[in-house]
Amino acid sequence: MADDLICANRICLLDEHTANRIAAGEVVERPASVVKELVENSIDAGATAITVTLEEGGKDLIKITDNGCGMTRDDAVMSLQRHATSKIRSADDLDAIATLGFRGEALPSIASVSVMEVVSRHESDINGVRLEIEAGTIINLESVGAPQGTSISVRKLFFNTPARLKFLKTSQTELSHITDLIGRFAIAYPSIYFRLVHGSREVLTSSATGNPLNSITQVLGKDVAKQLAPISFETPAMRISGFVSNPSLTRINRNEQILFVNGRPIKSRTVTHAVDQAYRGVLQPGRYPVAIVFVDVVPELVDVNVHPTKAEVKFSSEHEVHSAVYKAVNSALMQGAAAPTISDHPRRPAQPLHLTPDELRPQQPSLLPSAEVNMDAFREALARRREEALSAEDKEDPFVWQKGEGVPVEESPVPEAESETPRTVALRSVKVIGQARNTYIIAQCD
Ligand SMILES: Nc1ncnc2c1ncn2[C@@H]1O[C@H](COP(=O)(O)OP(=O)(O)OP(=O)(O)O)[C@@H](O)[C@H]1O
Ligand SMILES: [Mg+2]
Repeated sequence: MADDLICANRICLLDEHTANRIAAGEVVERPASVVKELVENSIDAGATAITVTLEEGGKDLIKITDNGCGMTRDDAVMSLQRHATSKIRSADDLDAIATLGFRGEALPSIASVSVMEVVSRHESDINGVRLEIEAGTIINLESVGAPQGTSISVRKLFFNTPARLKFLKTSQTELSHITDLIGRFAIAYPSIYFRLVHGSREVLTSSATGNPLNSITQVLGKDVAKQLAPISFETPAMRISGFVSNPSLTRINRNEQILFVNGRPIKSRTVTHAVDQAYRGVLQPGRYPVAIVFVDVVPELVDVNVHPTKAEVKFSSEHEVHSAVYKAVNSALMQGAAAPTISDHPRRPAQPLHLTPDELRPQQPSLLPSAEVNMDAFREALARRREEALSAEDKEDPFVWQKGEGVPVEESPVPEAESETPRTVALRSVKVIGQARNTYIIAQCD
């Protein structure tokens, strides 16, 4: 009778399974999306160790095991229902979200497009619970012995959504998305031990020392880590911290620009634009610095409920965030780095401004230990290198590291939309007269 009333006309209320499948279309794009949601749940559960096991890039198996608080039998059953969450209680809580999850959508969405197994034991229980779920329906529920924490296995992802299944890329490509993601989490949560295993191969482990530089070294490598300078800026509402690369270390894309807002890996035009602005005039066009930027902002000033996979956020004052990030990066560059500029007095450095680990931290024999970066040593070493560079004259090459130039900086407004399309410049009466270092076109105009 009730169903008849609900579906009396042309418009019908969709059943829970259909609604979950539709939600999955937004939340679960590929294996990496599943890993993201499950790892976020583990972090929210207070886990200090998270293991991700994959088969075939996650297409055959994704298994996430954590040592977090675990779930009781009732909660484990409840967790598979749409809009069931332990993280918020009412709409008011949306204004100050302190957890990574809050929608109560991830588990039912993933369960609706896979074959899932949940094994969990809550810290207060003696026995654990095991659930088997197929396409969103619980087909088995039993008590089991289990360590405290939760282990969720997802098999046959998209088995009932052929269009999505076809869209999946090779195992290697899917694995690389997941490796990238776990690397980001390892950097953002340096106190959590992360382990990523693909088949019989261990792909990544983080040592959980609590020091982000150690995680960065493990994820991005020693050569990158030793060329990073710390950034820091604080306002009453936010704190910017992280690391940016010496201008001699650049990339052809932004893959090594890693941003976190309140511990959440995100993409933000505001933050990337602020970083670009700080490096303006320092880097060649088309080159990007390595940057790891943590924005910690009071939860009331950031809306995390703006993107289906929570990959973007909205700041209540984008300008304030832009300005803070810009100042943090700019001040690190002004204190420690010089800008390569074209000069009438041709000179160039004898070698690039690479700092050795010892120069970064003279007191510490090993690379990037848990101590803070010694900024004084960093600046001194850079100044020394710059002096060396300036004394090495080379009349054939018109590119120099100019002493005392710093970074030519000027803040510009945050762009409305980021465009990867190069700016078109009217090239009226420009005559090409040569090329330098196989990179720069030298032109003359009227
Ligand atoms: N690994 C875990 N350990 C403990 N509890 C968990 C774990 N995973 C899920 N849960 C519980 O299940 C609930 C539902 O998880 P789900 O991911 O679907 O929603 P959410 O995290 O609350 O919100 P969102 O959809 O935004 O991720 C969580 O609120 C949490 O209480
Ligand atoms: Mg969640």
